[in-house]
Amino acid sequence: MPLPDGFIEEIKFKNDIIDVISSYVNLKRRGRNFVGLCPFHNEKTPSFNVYLQSNSFYCFGCGVGGDIITFIEKIENLNYIEAVKFLAQRAGLEMPENDGKTQELLSIKTRIFEINRESARFFYERMYSEEGKKALEYLKKRGLSGKIIRKFGIGYSPSTRYELVNYLKKKGFKYEEMINANLVYGKNGLRIAARFFDRIMFPIIDLRGNVIAFGGRTLPAQQKPKYLNTSDTLVFKKSLNLFSLNFARIDNAGVLVLVEGYMDVIALYQAGIKNAVATLGTALTSEQARIISRYAKEVIICYDSDEAGQKATARAIDLLRPTGLLIKVISLPNGKDPDEFVRHYGRDAAVRFSQLIKNSENDVDYKLKKLANNYNFNESNEKVAYLRESIKILASLDDLIEQEIYAGKLSEKLNVPKDAIMLQIEKEKKKKKKIIDKKHFLQVQQDLSAKNDKINTEKFDNLRAATAEEAIIAYIFNNPEMAGEIFSRISSESFCTSFNKKIYSILEERFKALRPIGIIDLTQDFSSEEIAAIAAMVARESERMSDKDAVLEYIDVVLFEKEKLNKNKIISARDDENEIMEYMKLLREHKK
Ligand code: CTP
Ligand code: MN
Repeated sequence: MPLPDGFIEEIKFKNDIIDVISSYVNLKRRGRNFVGLCPFHNEKTPSFNVYLQSNSFYCFGCGVGGDIITFIEKIENLNYIEAVKFLAQRAGLEMPENDGKTQELLSIKTRIFEINRESARFFYERMYSEEGKKALEYLKKRGLSGKIIRKFGIGYSPSTRYELVNYLKKKGFKYEEMINANLVYGKNGLRIAARFFDRIMFPIIDLRGNVIAFGGRTLPAQQKPKYLNTSDTLVFKKSLNLFSLNFARIDNAGVLVLVEGYMDVIALYQAGIKNAVATLGTALTSEQARIISRYAKEVIICYDSDEAGQKATARAIDLLRPTGLLIKVISLPNGKDPDEFVRHYGRDAAVRFSQLIKNSENDVDYKLKKLANNYNFNESNEKVAYLRESIKILASLDDLIEQEIYAGKLSEKLNVPKDAIMLQIEKEKKKKKKIIDKKHFLQVQQDLSAKNDKINTEKFDNLRAATAEEAIIAYIFNNPEMAGEIFSRISSESFCTSFNKKIYSILEERFKALRPIGIIDLTQDFSSEEIAAIAAMVARESERMSDKDAVLEYIDVVLFEKEKLNKNKIISARDDENEIMEYMKLLREHKK
């Protein structure tokens, strides 16, 4: 969509890329660039790079890349215009008038928020109706007070599936809007019915206080499944939200407790532990791990003690580790879940729970202890096997001090010299690094030989030219002061592959119009995949750091390859001519 000239430049000027990305990723300086753990995939060694000169980022691990707008689009799950708006707000800039399409999308979203809020109100009221009594009684039986029910806005969806529909219709909502919110099924006004019926309804609220979705629980021994949740809508993605984060972030003192269920969060809250959050019917995702790290320094995992819960704990640890959060694990006594724990201890629950937190072990201790359960230490070979496995755990830690501390603990426990353990850890780390390097290398190879480069489809047939073209383009981004000289030596007409030609000619035009040139200025002309491909060019060039002589050589390569292409064209045209002559000759002979 067309934004006024200069607006994007203003956005870029007012939002420092390092500043913006730093609020999501822990960046460290490396030479002229910055590196960190990629927020878009799971990794333990950083391959996410931010390049200052070109104002771009690129991850060598997963291939995500672009400028700050792309970054905000992806990390905040926004579309292009919303991301621009986000950055404009961040910089205190007034957004120019929107075009129709964005306006439409915004208004669909606003309607979903409104419809959700109205529905939450409806469910809450129905809880206190004749039919809702059984739901209310059930919650009371489970120890919830009227106050906590109000706090969380818990409600009841009646069993007749048109009640909500009628209610919403009276409030002026269209069927289509109800369907957009995933509250109602149906098509073209036919077979319209509420998605949730005869369930206890938990509203899911975002940090701005919008109701974005619902979780609906059956009453005992009724419908299956036990929980039904809103599917992803335009305003809700379950992998990106956490239940009760809106309440928990308020007084969490840097600590969040991660539990499995809605009921656990609510029971803890009522007991005075207000900093618990839960995922929304799926296992923890890396996005959620990142969100937790944004609102806390420490996370306490408190999952069920059954096997599924323990597996989920191990998985959560691996996802949370790369965020740099301090991780602790508590296992509740007697296989209770937090909700049962609270009910069991009644008034003392908060104190008891705080004690558990105080005595909780950190993630490494937890992992080592879990591991130890599988071995019999009276058997030497089992002791060795345990040591081997625990060394793998320690080798995966980034922190040398941590490694020293745990090596010391293991040494005492198993009566093996600490130095020997440290040595083994070093070996294991080297081995891991080799594997990672190899993977990285293979990836680069793969990239190079990508026969079907989806973005630049002509690349493979013109590999030499395309590679040089990419280097030239990236060089301009990295050294804009050299742009004039480069444009004077080669024009876009001499580019061999059309994708690169398009980029180069846009840059050329902007340069002639005395406009600044940067990746961000291309976002309106290219798709996000294309932008990622351009960011990759820049990243590769930043690793190479070509000097002027090198870039002059690239220019020669392109000019040479272009000439070759042109010649080939002439030759094949000549071939055509020859063919026709040949044919004529044949015809003539035939006639004879
Ligand atoms: N869940 C789900 N779908 C299911 C079962 C569970 O989405 N069929 C999700 C819900 O978010 C639920 C969480 O997984 O809160 C944990 O499940 P569970 O421990 O069974 O739920 P509780 O919230 O503890 O509910 P209750 O104690 O009432 O059984
Ligand atoms: Mn439960």
